[in-house]
Amino acid sequence: METKNIGLRGIEVADTKISNIDGEKGKLIYRGYDIFELTKKSSYEETAYLLLHDDLPTKEQLAQFKSKLNEARWIPKRMQINMGNWRKDADPMDMLQAFVSALAGYYDEEFATKEASYDKAINLIAKIPTIIASWQRVRDGLEIIDPDPSLDHAANFLYMMFGEKPDKEIEKIFDTCLILHADHTFNASTFVARQVASTRAHMYSAASAAIGALSGELHGGANTEVMKMLLEIGTIDNVVPWIKERMEKGERIMGMGHAVYKTYDPRATILKELSRKLGAKTGEPWYDITEKVETTTIEEMKKQKGKDIYPNVDLYSASIYYMLKIPMDLNTPIFAISRVAGWAAHIIEEKFAEAAPKPALYRPKAVYVGKYCGPEGCEYKELDLRK
Ligand code: ACO
Repeated sequence: METKNIGLRGIEVADTKISNIDGEKGKLIYRGYDIFELTKKSSYEETAYLLLHDDLPTKEQLAQFKSKLNEARWIPKRMQINMGNWRKDADPMDMLQAFVSALAGYYDEEFATKEASYDKAINLIAKIPTIIASWQRVRDGLEIIDPDPSLDHAANFLYMMFGEKPDKEIEKIFDTCLILHADHTFNASTFVARQVASTRAHMYSAASAAIGALSGELHGGANTEVMKMLLEIGTIDNVVPWIKERMEKGERIMGMGHAVYKTYDPRATILKELSRKLGAKTGEPWYDITEKVETTTIEEMKKQKGKDIYPNVDLYSASIYYMLKIPMDLNTPIFAISRVAGWAAHIIEEKFAEAAPKPALYRPKAVYVGKYCGPEGCEYKELDLRK
């Protein structure tokens, strides 16, 4: 017998009120609201609040949420000093995972209640950008820049990284990227977060496990790989031969394909437009090259396998971050800056769901296909009798 449910594709494992994907129509909603509308009318802070609570915040609720984020943006001095002990070429995702996990060791905190989990969620949403920006400054041998309470979430991160406040257009572009990456139902990292939370482990533990899952190149790591690919391709004329050669060898084109969407990923539609805008603003070729990668992969997939393939969220985010001068290996950490709102919402839902069916400890079955020596088991050989 062989496992039927490889990768758990299509298996429903829990109820959620947080987000939903229509993979056929290419729609993504957060708590009932379409992401197209959220990116046009909302901010990342409103979106994070929406994911954590059941609806968009009122003016007062938003002001209070922003004020809590402002208070929580600081990270302990000892953590900043500790960053100086890391190798400068360490992977930022490893650093992020370690420091998120370490947050539990820096503070004496209450974890058991739902209310306490909301505080941890705010702490994570606020501190992850500070951890990443601080790491960037430390590894560049520069002074760490403190958060600026006059700035919103997106602008604060760019300010802490670069030491300059971004203009409104750049702030809006980055804020839109954060909104688009904030949640995506039971994606790999969110499922990991929920799985860890299902054991009743605390918020930091579940979030750091999710960061580990996000780092892989088939998930959040794809956006860094996309930029490496674009740089290797280098020119628009090189796109067709480069993609053809890789696909003929059976290699995957990063940023293309999705486990759920059977049509255009709606996030890619919005990001494509942002990348186009930035390409026009900066005069850099990355939007044009990315678009050619998209069309060539679609054509080659049709020719070689008779199948359809579409861009996912990572295809156009890579060139956006590159044109914003963000170091390439921070693409995936930036994904975490945004996705942590979704992780936190799912962790809270997993641990504190009130209505039946309540989530249970995840414990799937495996099909054993290993050694079998009969009903009594294999004969155990002492160490010096083994060959
Ligand atoms: N490039 C070339 N071929 C591809 C790609 C790709 N990007 N994606 C899928 N295929 C092919 C596979 O080789 C396979 O061909 P086969 O049937 O001949 O073996 C077929 O399409 C189906 O592949 P699966 O892995 O079964 O498709 P699935 O839908 O489960 O894969 C996945 C989804 C893992 C994201 C895949 O499309 C992929 O590897 N993409 C590249 C990595 C990437 O961009 N990841 C980011 C995803 S979005 C996110 O996690 C944030």
